[in-house]
Amino acid sequence: MEKEIRAIVLGAGKGTRMKSNLPKVLHEIFAKPLIGWVLDSINNLPYKNESIVIIGHGAHDVEEYLNHNYKYVKTTLQKEQLGTGHAVAQAVPILHGYRGTAIIVCGDTPLITTKTLRELIKFHEENASDLTVMTTKFDNPTGYGRIIRSVKDEVMKIVEEKDATESQKEIKEVNTGVYCLDWAKIRKAFNELKNNNAQGEYYLTDIIKWARENSYKVLGYETKNNEEIYGINSRQHLAVASNIMKRRYLDELMTKGVTIVDPESTYISPDTEIGEDTIIYPNTYIEGRNKIAKNCKIGPMTHLRGGCEVGEGSKIGNFVELKNAQIAKKTNVCHLSYIGDAEIGSHVNIGAGTIFANYNSITKKKKRSVLEDGVSVGSNSVIVAPVHLGKESFIAASSCITKDVESHALAMTRVHQKEIKNWVKDNKEKK
Ligand code: UD1
Ligand code: CA
Repeated sequence: MEKEIRAIVLGAGKGTRMKSNLPKVLHEIFAKPLIGWVLDSINNLPYKNESIVIIGHGAHDVEEYLNHNYKYVKTTLQKEQLGTGHAVAQAVPILHGYRGTAIIVCGDTPLITTKTLRELIKFHEENASDLTVMTTKFDNPTGYGRIIRSVKDEVMKIVEEKDATESQKEIKEVNTGVYCLDWAKIRKAFNELKNNNAQGEYYLTDIIKWARENSYKVLGYETKNNEEIYGINSRQHLAVASNIMKRRYLDELMTKGVTIVDPESTYISPDTEIGEDTIIYPNTYIEGRNKIAKNCKIGPMTHLRGGCEVGEGSKIGNFVELKNAQIAKKTNVCHLSYIGDAEIGSHVNIGAGTIFANYNSITKKKKRSVLEDGVSVGSNSVIVAPVHLGKESFIAASSCITKDVESHALAMTRVHQKEIKNWVKDNKEKK
């Protein structure tokens, strides 16, 4: 039987320093909210899991996002934000009777990976721990809770920066805010937490001391990847995290055999798969879920906005924007085009400046177009959806296509060129 876990994700905080109307966890990296990144890392764990998200500030918006994108996630409202311990306490009734392992993760740490969460859970289980806190070391630990260990190296408690003595502040090992616990044993702690500290909050960190006092086994699991626990509190942090995510993924792609000509100016969402020997030219921005096959050329100055597939050996050139476009192999879209909501066959040539008109601004509806294999679209054409262009049909340059075109046919909508002899000369003479 597949093992089960429960994940509690904290996302009720306001994020005051973001200076924003948007709840902090809905701020985005590569068009995906912070909490989405965290939930995806949890969902990729090899366990049957149910996540509970604690919502508070902007609860309505967060709930709407989750309902749309993570239907199986449960939410619970923390009406007043009285601290991280109080936040987890809101999950206690939902998990009534649950007897397995739980993890607690913050919703504002988008860089946490499945691998690291898995290592934490493995460590917790292999050591038959009751409560394991994930720790890491920072040269500059300012702002984080410090891990207080005994002479025997056991984790005794966590002290928040604001409550720490000068000598405690010297400690470089910090609380990452990620925990793994035996729920049935530790859940009682959440109703017994006190708020007699510098911030007057119910600290989640106090469960460590509680577990010790109640003779449970408490361990610290130190991760070396301190980048992963980077939490977002400001727009500056958001920019730093975006960059870390970007760099990390470009590195992975290069290791897998993708050429990135200029990593500095290239942005690729980790939800985008790219095959071997594909070359990504500078100033390319790829967000959302996309699949690019091998031996493709993308860029320079290309924007993929999600839901795109590019088949083997295809070229997507400069100033081209794609959204929800599935393009088969050996097709060229080389210059200045927009393709949205379309299925395009193989060996298709899309001339420079072709626009797919997929959106009706009155009905607010989008429609799809289909281009079969071998279609040739002349430059500066508009393909008004929904249309179906048959196999090897040919669209003359500068056409506005509003009707289906049969296979092997030529379609053109422009007026024929006419020539008026000596027109320039005659006009000059009249003057
Ligand atoms: C917390 C830890 C600190 C750790 C750090 C790691 C506590 C008391 N401190 O501090 O030891 O080093 O994380 O990043 O736990 N939240 C709620 N409801 C609340 C308060 C917070 O849902 O009432 C959520 C926030 O939205 C956020 C998360 O909990 O996602 C962490 O809260 P935050 O205030 O950022 O904690 P830190 O001060 O960073
Ligand atoms: Ca705080």
